[in-house]
Amino acid sequence: MNDDLESKIQAAIHDPQNLGEMADADAVGTVGSENCGDMLRMWVKFKEENGRKTIDRATFQTFGCQTAIAVASVATELIRGKTPEEALTLSGSELAASLGELPPMKIHCAQLVEGALKNALRGNSPAASGPTNSPSLLDQIHAPRSVKIKLHDSQSQ
Ligand code: FES
Repeated sequence: MNDDLESKIQAAIHDPQNLGEMADADAVGTVGSENCGDMLRMWVKFKEENGRKTIDRATFQTFGCQTAIAVASVATELIRGKTPEEALTLSGSELAASLGELPPMKIHCAQLVEGALKNALRGNSPAASGPTNSPSLLDQIHAPRSVKIKLHDSQSQ
């Protein structure tokens, strides 16, 4: 990772913007990364202006790496004032653009942010909550899970 990118990520994680749950959110989206197992949740609040629906604000929580935090921080600022349709067109790289170009091994961190945003904008209302959309990401991490255990042949008689 180059020094400029590293310093921008450090700056973002020392003062992350829009971190935390949003009680009055209109939409929420959660994704987990297949690459690293990290998770990110994003809450979105809309507003209507002159008959145009735009993103008023967005917040996030994550059990993700520093890059995911930094990208979510700049992305939640970037999408403010955009229509949901405009925000849906943004790729992870575009959401992270103000940090600089991410190295290949960190691209999935930005895709985690993109995925949570798209999940929220595609109509995941907090009212439709199940375990996936519980108020806190922490709740979900600690919620009982159904785990499929594969038994070895010697034990499966
Ligand atoms: Fe998985 Fe960054 S390493 S989100």
